[in-house]
Amino acid sequence: MSASSFPSLALGCFLLVLVVGLRVADGLSRGSMLDVGSGGPVAPPATAGICASSFVTYGYKCQEFDVVTQDGYILSVQRIPEGRTGGGGGGTNKQPVLIQHGVLADGMTWLLNPPEQDLPLILADNGFDVWIANSRGTRFSRRHTSLDPANADFWNWSWDELAQFDVPAVLDFIHGKTGQKIDYVGHSLGTLVALAALSEGKLVDKLQSAALLSPIAYLSHMTTPLGVVAAKSFSGEMVKSAGLAKFDPKEFDPKGESVANFLQALCDIPGVNCYDSVAAFTGINCCLNDSTVDLFLKTEPQPTSTKTLVHLSQMARYGVLAKYNYGIPGFNVMHYGDVRPPVYNLSNIPRDFPIFLSHGGRDALSDPKDVRHLLDSLKLHDVGKLTVQFVENYAHADFIMAVNAKDIVYSQVLSFLKNQR
Ligand SMILES: *[C@@H]1O[C@H](CO)[C@@H](O)[C@H](O)[C@H]1NC(C)=O
Ligand SMILES: *[C@@H]1O[C@H](CO)[C@@H](O)[C@H](O)[C@H]1NC(C)=O
Ligand SMILES: *[C@@H]1O[C@H](CO)[C@@H](O)[C@H](O)[C@H]1NC(C)=O
Repeated sequence: MSASSFPSLALGCFLLVLVVGLRVADGLSRGSMLDVGSGGPVAPPATAGICASSFVTYGYKCQEFDVVTQDGYILSVQRIPEGRTGGGGGGTNKQPVLIQHGVLADGMTWLLNPPEQDLPLILADNGFDVWIANSRGTRFSRRHTSLDPANADFWNWSWDELAQFDVPAVLDFIHGKTGQKIDYVGHSLGTLVALAALSEGKLVDKLQSAALLSPIAYLSHMTTPLGVVAAKSFSGEMVKSAGLAKFDPKEFDPKGESVANFLQALCDIPGVNCYDSVAAFTGINCCLNDSTVDLFLKTEPQPTSTKTLVHLSQMARYGVLAKYNYGIPGFNVMHYGDVRPPVYNLSNIPRDFPIFLSHGGRDALSDPKDVRHLLDSLKLHDVGKLTVQFVENYAHADFIMAVNAKDIVYSQVLSFLKNQR
């Protein structure tokens, strides 16, 4: 069991560090990943929503909503209905756009840079009606109509459920409020859940287009570095100490003691240099602002379910885009009617559905080879409906936090979205 768990641990570790980049080694050596500098925008108190934080004081209107999923999770959603100066163009019927974060992050992740660099605020200033999602399990979406996040059954989901329940619920809600089709911008896992849902025909009637930043659909090319480091670094004891050795659903809290201990133990192993392994795993982000990284460490990373990390590691191991594998044929038969989990077939995405895809040359999670695989699975897509941007020196976190993302990526997202009107 521990042998088959370690890729998920490695992946969890990897995902955790990929956004914080090289600072993780610093944080760990100081004994706490969260005990880092202050200044910059103010993080919201744990009880307040995202609207209570920084960007209201930047002069934007902000509204908080609760959206209940079909399986009972209560998700926090923010709306920035207009630009700072009130208008931003777009008239009364502004185009709604949903912004979906990746794994181990939440909606705050988009708001950590100075306001003129943050994607949601840029879109608002350009006349969009901006909605920000927060996936189940993250700080403001740790609620359920009957389950308690302190219990295992609250965490009994993988990213399949984000695609099946979270994204559709939020889109239904926005559609109910606006009566319009919605544009979608996702990063990392936020691209995967959209692709998966679209391939099952789920979002097709609600979505107008999708911009996918650091897209993830295939993770095969992560296996080599992960495997090497995992083989070097993991022992059954550490797997146990991180509490991930079982298939029991569980919270994966990157700020929690067990995960911190796990990372500490990993970095203490002779021959393991966290600094180097981070670079080896993630690629090096080109353009992060130190203050933003400090703020990220203070307010993010956010919890997810261990099943989500196990599911991602299955993608890396098996090289296919499929539903969660229960690991026991009988369980798969029980859940899916087949010993193998059903695949998400991306060629089912309507060929005339407008897609913008932006990926980086140094992104070790969304590796260029895996992106090529993704593009190959979309090869029948209408030529005019698929736009691809390649940013040579970008790694995974640059797409949400780089100081120049506004000019390099968001300007392209904007013109793509404006073309859909
Ligand atoms: C980095 O962030 C700080 C704090 O938000 C800000 O004052 C500074 O202008 C940023 N630097 C760049 C290059 O954007
Ligand atoms: C998790 O959900 C599965 C069904 O998908 C169920 O068989 C299992 O008992 C659940 N486990 C917990 C701890 O709720
Ligand atoms: C995916 O669907 C296409 C038709 O839309 C089919 O030709 C192809 O075989 C399917 N791939 C898989 C892996 O099922």
